[in-house]
Amino acid sequence: MSEPVGGLFEYAPAPEPRSLVSIRPSYGLFVGGEFVDPVEGGSLKTINPASEEVLAEVATAGPADVDRAVRAARRAYEEVWGPMPGRERAKYLFRVARMIQERARELAVLESLDNGKPIRESRDVDVPLAAAHFFYHAGWADKLSYAGLGPDPRPLGVAGQVIPWNFPLLMAAWKLAPALAAGNTCVLKPAETTPLSALLLAEILRDAELPPGVVNVVTGAGDTGASLVAHPGVDKVAFTGSTEVGREIRRTLAGSGKRLTLELGGKAANVVFDDAPLSQAVEGIVNGIFFNQGHVCCAGSRLLVQESVADAVVDRLKRRMETLRIGDPLDKNTDVGAINSSGQLDKIRELSAAGEAEGAERWAPACRLPERGFWFPPTVFTNVSPSQRIAREEIFGPVLSVITFRTAEEAVAKANNTTYGLSAGVWTEKGSRILWMVHHLRAGVVWANTFNRFDPASPFGGYKESGFGREGGRHGLEAYLDA
Ligand code: NAI
Ligand code: MG
Repeated sequence: MSEPVGGLFEYAPAPEPRSLVSIRPSYGLFVGGEFVDPVEGGSLKTINPASEEVLAEVATAGPADVDRAVRAARRAYEEVWGPMPGRERAKYLFRVARMIQERARELAVLESLDNGKPIRESRDVDVPLAAAHFFYHAGWADKLSYAGLGPDPRPLGVAGQVIPWNFPLLMAAWKLAPALAAGNTCVLKPAETTPLSALLLAEILRDAELPPGVVNVVTGAGDTGASLVAHPGVDKVAFTGSTEVGREIRRTLAGSGKRLTLELGGKAANVVFDDAPLSQAVEGIVNGIFFNQGHVCCAGSRLLVQESVADAVVDRLKRRMETLRIGDPLDKNTDVGAINSSGQLDKIRELSAAGEAEGAERWAPACRLPERGFWFPPTVFTNVSPSQRIAREEIFGPVLSVITFRTAEEAVAKANNTTYGLSAGVWTEKGSRILWMVHHLRAGVVWANTFNRFDPASPFGGYKESGFGREGGRHGLEAYLDA
């Protein structure tokens, strides 16, 4: 599986040992500080998408289990966590952050096994950023009255949080850390294809002696998520996932008085001007779309390149793509891992076929894909027109659509011509042009001469069909406080 692919030289395999993590054959729900069997006893199997091997059987929570978890969270909120001084809550968050660091290698291997992402990314991005979110919010827990939200902002109560499969541990941290810092308690619903890192995090929370019920983890599929968000005992809902499910949740919550934040899809433009440092821009384009197999809501999936340098940029990009190594996610040399599920692979294949049928030109480097598991080669489409599906719909895979422009005004018009508005990138040497572009691009985050940079202090979120509300920074706290 780790055979060299189109590279300039050979690499010896460098696998991170799987033995770093011990996966139990089955997992219960984490409710009231302990692992319990579900009332009705359902379960699902989670697999390694790089091999299709079953990793573990995981309990599915029905409505009675969700009810039990919400009640446990309510009790913990009223009796322990709500009344606790912020400086005491902070100590727990610091402890959790340090324990994530201590168990970083184990978490990284587990994340790569369950999700399919390269170990280089889980080790260097997902796990350190998850720890950073707990450290950052630990710092806020005793300073909430200085967050600019009034002299005495209050927690909301019980937060129901539903997260996706693309950054399983990191999304759990994005949801839990600010909620807990603000004094709320949580019921978290991980995605059905990637529940294991949230369950290991639950073990960490238990080992950190977090009071029982402050965080509960209910595993299961969409129906578990639906019963969580609809539960009358939930005061605030935070969701990250598809625009379609986001819409449904908004309908369910209408008139309920529950607070809601939605972080949904994207179709980001990565805009390259003719004065940009081209080799850096090419690295940014590659990172923008092939990071995490393109399973990234803020992925730079539309490359907008100025016409005068379009051929040069595409040539360099293709040469760079030929050196990307696809294969075993646990190999430290791997750049592109497995597609997370067969369903997601079908969606990527379908949209790529539509791109060809609509007249765009498809290119991928010659590469040998592993026989088992779910794989898709890094792919670029040229001759793309803005009306084609591959230019409009979120593919959520390693597929880039290239569109050209002549002037900055045309670049802005094309970049904003989308139903989404989550992120964008600008590559140019001119500071004044960066500022002009940032002012005109309708996106929650705009990166200049870089892409896919995250920091817990920086708010993240979208416009239009990318959702509303912000996560991270002072703005992210606001979503968990009544000011
Ligand atoms: P999804 O939106 O169905 O799943 C996300 C989470 O929501 C999962 O935990 C799922 O169990 C839960 N869920 C599903 N239906 C629900 C409901 N009715 N009520 C409450 N929770 C529910 O996303 P899916 O099907 O895995 O991916 C489909 C597409 O969505 C992807 O191809 C991608 O385009 C987009 N997506 C965007 C993400 C983002 O980060 N913004 C993350 C995942 C998917
Ligand atoms: Mg899995």
